[in-house]
Amino acid sequence: MEAVIERLRADALARIEAAADAASVEEVRVALLGRRSELTQLLRNVRELPESERRAAGAALNALKDALTAALAEKGRALAAGPSGASGCDLTLPGAPAVAPGSLHPLRTVLEEICDIFYSMGFSRVEGPDVELDYYNFTALNFPADHPARDSQDTFYLNEKVCLRTQTSPAQVRTMERVQPPLAFIVPGRVYRNEATDASHAAEFYQIEGFCVDKAVSLADLRTTVQQFVRAFFGPGREIRFRPHFFPFTEPSVEVDMTCASCGGKGCSVCGRSGWLEIMGAGMIHPNVFAAAGYPADAYTGYAFGLGIDRIAMLRFGVDDIRLFYENDLRFLNQFRGVS
Ligand code: PHE
Repeated sequence: MEAVIERLRADALARIEAAADAASVEEVRVALLGRRSELTQLLRNVRELPESERRAAGAALNALKDALTAALAEKGRALAAGPSGASGCDLTLPGAPAVAPGSLHPLRTVLEEICDIFYSMGFSRVEGPDVELDYYNFTALNFPADHPARDSQDTFYLNEKVCLRTQTSPAQVRTMERVQPPLAFIVPGRVYRNEATDASHAAEFYQIEGFCVDKAVSLADLRTTVQQFVRAFFGPGREIRFRPHFFPFTEPSVEVDMTCASCGGKGCSVCGRSGWLEIMGAGMIHPNVFAAAGYPADAYTGYAFGLGIDRIAMLRFGVDDIRLFYENDLRFLNQFRGVS
């Protein structure tokens, strides 16, 4: 009897396993447990067995019946749940990412691309503190004590001596205090100004400072460097021009324009019909700045420039409102996935 039960079990489980849909499960159930099935016949015949075998055979056959009933029910559930089994998971489906992969912020993309261009010209990168001493942000940069930019309307002061840097230029003096020429550095970073915001002004934005100091650095070196940068970033056809300007920490000082990235110089709404776009402030480092850094008088010359990353990112991506960069709206940010 034991052998018969084992044969029945093996055969029945194989048939249950092979059933491919609910109808065949029912078919198999009738064949295995129905009135005319071998198991039902055997159960019916138990009472004809010799007294000594009856009890064990009955128990074994009923156990088999229970096991097959359970196996059929389980198979039915599995088929209802989905293609690949009891867990309800289709293990052949590609996985759904648990966390959406991040991407670089458009300002970061542009910042790194600009830095890469300056690395290729031999510049090294340093960073300065966002919370800066008034001394480095203004005094060491030759701002007179009563300069309007020091006014609390423009500068966020934490106390009398400490403010949020309004420019990346303080890193010039911090770096020159530590490093002797020849040197060439870029300093990317966030700057802060107490300004009303609108489509082209934010109270915080990014700059990259650049400066180069050696024995005979000239304005022509500045021009060539900026020219190279503009062509590497915006394309080979771009021209630049210098307009005289004033910064306390450079002499002479200039503002640098480049031919408009939108119209190529013909004049359009982006450049206010002038064909030119202002992209940075620059000039030759003022002797008072070298003095603040502790360099001997008349030993060196150098140029410095400061460019606004936000404006360049707006030109690059055709974004017309600087505030979009700071709102962290995913509908905006997701459009820059895979840009770099
Ligand atoms: N720091 C100046 C600004 O924020 C830009 C600048 C940097 C000008 C270096 C000259 C030299 O406007």
